[in-house]
Amino acid sequence: MNTSHEQQASEQAAQERIKASHQLDGDAVRLAHYYSGWANSYNLDVDRDRYCGPVVVAELAATMQAAYMDENRAAMAILDAGCGTGLVGRQLVRLGFQLIDGFDLSEAMAEKARQTGIYRQVQSKVDLNQPPLGFSGASYDMTVCCGVFTLGHVRPRGLRELVRVTRPNGFVIVSTRKSYAEATSFENEVLCLQNEGTVAPAQCLNDGKYLDEEDAHYWIFRVPKTPTPQQTRRS
Ligand SMILES: C[S@@+](CC[C@H](N)C(=O)[O-])C[C@H]1O[C@@H](n2cnc3c(N)ncnc32)[C@H](O)[C@@H]1O
Repeated sequence: MNTSHEQQASEQAAQERIKASHQLDGDAVRLAHYYSGWANSYNLDVDRDRYCGPVVVAELAATMQAAYMDENRAAMAILDAGCGTGLVGRQLVRLGFQLIDGFDLSEAMAEKARQTGIYRQVQSKVDLNQPPLGFSGASYDMTVCCGVFTLGHVRPRGLRELVRVTRPNGFVIVSTRKSYAEATSFENEVLCLQNEGTVAPAQCLNDGKYLDEEDAHYWIFRVPKTPTPQQTRRS
């Protein structure tokens, strides 16, 4: 049994590993390297920091399905962007979703997600900072993305690609850490997408619980009924 001193030290070490991941400047090689060393202890670390982002994102997906979509939850195709070890997938399955694909930059993280047995398929070495992704336009009913629009990871422009792969009338649900939202042009990207008509006016849950050290904003985007030319383009 850990003493409280040991527990404090473990929590601090976990927070330091989380913070260090924010210093990677969106550099794909550094990110992949960092996560390959972190994959084995990632779940334990974020659990120590009481990471609840995946629960919130999955619950929002379930709420949007219940409120606005006619399809049976179990038959809806969902893309988990930057799926990591599969924490969002676990929550989606708990809520009755079954057709879940994932992708991640890191092979080590993607392999952890595959090992959960939850995902239909998980692709690795997919870089959301280098669109287009190898997915056809409008191919998912919903796209979810948690913990990826974070400092040092994915630039705001990546949102556009998540919208492209989501079908008309589908939803994109994304978390942004507060520090990320403050330091980047994420809100400008949202405004551009709205002004172009690529997404309907977004809903945002501000300052939601995320992990101990920081809150996050949770964004809900709906893709309009009429597809934009960008969406009909095959990747
Ligand atoms: C903080 S983890 C979040 C993982 C998972 N979504 C979760 O909530 O636990 C961030 C993930 O984003 C992935 N990632 C970082 N940069 C990426 C990029 N440019 N394209 C795709 N995935 C990326 C990392 O490999 C890592 O698995």
